Amino acid sequence: MQSQAKGFTYVKVPYNYIAYYEDGKWNEGQLRTDDTVTISAMSTALHYGQQAFEGLKAYRRKDGRINLFRVKDNALRFQLSCDFLKMPRIPVEMFVKAVEDTVLANHEYVPPYGSNATLYIRPFIIGIGDNLGLRPANSYIFSVIVSPVSSYFSGPARPVDMVTSPYDRAAPHGTGHVKVGGNYAASLKAQVEAKAVGYADTIFLDPKTHTKIEEVGAANFFGITKKQEYVTPTSPSILDSITNRSLKQLAKEALKLTVLETDIHLADLNQLDEAAACGTAAVVTPIGSITHEGVKMQFPHHEEMGPITLKLYQLLTGIQMGDLEDVYEWTTTLDPLK
Ligand code: PLP
Ligand code: COI
Repeated sequence: MQSQAKGFTYVKVPYNYIAYYEDGKWNEGQLRTDDTVTISAMSTALHYGQQAFEGLKAYRRKDGRINLFRVKDNALRFQLSCDFLKMPRIPVEMFVKAVEDTVLANHEYVPPYGSNATLYIRPFIIGIGDNLGLRPANSYIFSVIVSPVSSYFSGPARPVDMVTSPYDRAAPHGTGHVKVGGNYAASLKAQVEAKAVGYADTIFLDPKTHTKIEEVGAANFFGITKKQEYVTPTSPSILDSITNRSLKQLAKEALKLTVLETDIHLADLNQLDEAAACGTAAVVTPIGSITHEGVKMQFPHHEEMGPITLKLYQLLTGIQMGDLEDVYEWTTTLDPLK
């Protein structure tokens, strides 16, 4: 079996899942082969951004079986996003079954163990139907679509250079903490401008004061201080990353580090020995430097992944791939031959 992954681009696979919400309830949902949706041109998802999504991965184990990572946590976060945008919740069991069924139906497209590629899983919900006025839709589609992927940032996990964004992706009491398309639309200008001048991505600052690190457009931020503490921002406008949650626990329990969830002021970046972006797509991507208003702040570990970031990366991916014992019961193992 060959990995079909081409970086982080969409590669079609045979099956996806779709369910419809009508008259106050979800239908049973089914797997299908068509990866298009036909909806009213007046759908709330198209005009008012009434939609939400999730992202998780399926990992091929050495024994050929397939691991999902913390799928129930994605289901719960999806419910938060649905609540915030006034969309109907997907029951946790329905979400998990839809993900499992879609992965198993496409099991031949889960890239081989050791290929550095995985099957990315994208559950999403959209408001549909004829709606001109601004109000929540009456009908919705919940779908799960998957694609083999390899690294999100090009190349192997070498430190990347980032620049702070002059724009905000989310307001202080807005939608930053939920995974809704509007946040990502709002992040594109900063990302495109950063890439145009050679940065791998942009880092958003706290929308109120623009003095503190918040997160990357598609990943959380963490650093390792000179005192060997794991430090990561707290803010109501960033996504509660499941990868970051896992790294915090591993840092504390496996590496015995102090974990600080606190403000990270730009002025204090010189206290960090290591910095990284973390998320499902980004996994753990080391950050070599951050440029703010033309001034470049380079971290001591800017040529290769720092030693603590590397240990965390190995622990996390070891559990995800099934190479290390999963003492936290984060993984669900699927057997494609059963
Ligand atoms: N922050 C943002 C804005 C994201 O899009 C993502 C990706 O999902 C993350 C953080 C990381 O979250 P997770 O680790 O749950 O994938
Ligand atoms: C993920 O890591 O799952 C994401 O959602 C990233 C995506 C915005 C590219």
